[in-house]
Amino acid sequence: MALELQTKVTKAFIDRFDHAPTWVVRAPGRVNLIGEHTDYNDGYVMPLAIDRQILIALCKRTDQKVLVHSLDYDETLEILPSSLISRGNTGWGEYVSAIAFVMTRAGYGLQGWDGVVAGDIPKGAGLSSSAALELAVANAFTLASDIPWEPLKMAQLSQQAENEWVGMQCGIMDQMISACGIAGHALMIDCRSLEHTPVALPHGTAVVVMDTGTRRGLLDSAYNERRRQCQEAAQMFGKTVLRDVDRNTFEKGAFKLTDLQRRRARHVIAENNRVLLAMQAMQSQDAHALGRLMVASHTSLRDDFEVSSRELNIMVECALKAPGCLGARMTGAGFGGCAVALITAEARTPFTDIVTQKYVDATGIQPSMYVCQAKGGVDILPDGSFSQ
Ligand code: GLA
Repeated sequence: MALELQTKVTKAFIDRFDHAPTWVVRAPGRVNLIGEHTDYNDGYVMPLAIDRQILIALCKRTDQKVLVHSLDYDETLEILPSSLISRGNTGWGEYVSAIAFVMTRAGYGLQGWDGVVAGDIPKGAGLSSSAALELAVANAFTLASDIPWEPLKMAQLSQQAENEWVGMQCGIMDQMISACGIAGHALMIDCRSLEHTPVALPHGTAVVVMDTGTRRGLLDSAYNERRRQCQEAAQMFGKTVLRDVDRNTFEKGAFKLTDLQRRRARHVIAENNRVLLAMQAMQSQDAHALGRLMVASHTSLRDDFEVSSRELNIMVECALKAPGCLGARMTGAGFGGCAVALITAEARTPFTDIVTQKYVDATGIQPSMYVCQAKGGVDILPDGSFSQ
């Protein structure tokens, strides 16, 4: 997949600019195994970087201009990072401007570049195509400007870009995993300290990404509303984030909260605990325990946090009834997009065939699903170095 995409962006770059690109950078999307809506509560998450990505073929310019063409949208963006003052573009170009803006503000002297961008992460599916684009663009700027690549710092700047420029008040999970993913592993991230620990999947298991084929509009406002509700709940305990409210304190003080606040907080507090238990389960090769935690996470997201959807619930139910399934849940922000299942590796083909059929029967919608591989974070593709 990555190789095909690499050929595609390289060829398109040569057609457009009449010479080979100096680099082809790659930033992966992600699927989150467990730990949903916990990152902006300073909690724990357990995503893995997947074999779906955004690539940019690029070459440094002698001025500060950025000229980048998107093959997926067939649009060209031209910006001057030093003179960006407010949102000027729509769609994908917004992320390029946003990264240029935050990096300039952080004091980096940015050099311009010519680029061609393309990806194979389905958009709006909860697989972090935006974070991957942000990290790929950040990497392009560091290469063109001779800035050392600092994954944590770039993840933080990318989050700022999304919060302040794009207006989605996301946490740090997606940017962290796209920047710091480790091949063959999930990453347990403490979203407060940003400490991250690679954790391998239990032996003999595989992770399936199951796209419901549904997308939700106005995701940002529903998401930002959840974030606000969590802050309000934390404030009722005299804290700024729910990470600092332990289960005892919550149970004793829950009467102070409205029913809605109580359910939101209960999800976050229990979900943080589930991530810690999931890490233990993975380290002790207990695939069944991990699967059960994923199911509990889904129930909590559906009933307490209310970010699931009819199709996500149906997909999870179909998966749980299929042979070889150890656990399943919605993944990402929710409201549509993808669910994730943990299965026994030998069940792959019957599993995806059976779930597809059951889901089509129940919804009339054709889903797409694939067994994903855990990949490393942002990198420069080895064959991407061509002499100019
Ligand atoms: C989106 C956000 C993340 C995280 C998830 C929910 O993907 O970008 O920061 O909050 O939703 O866990």
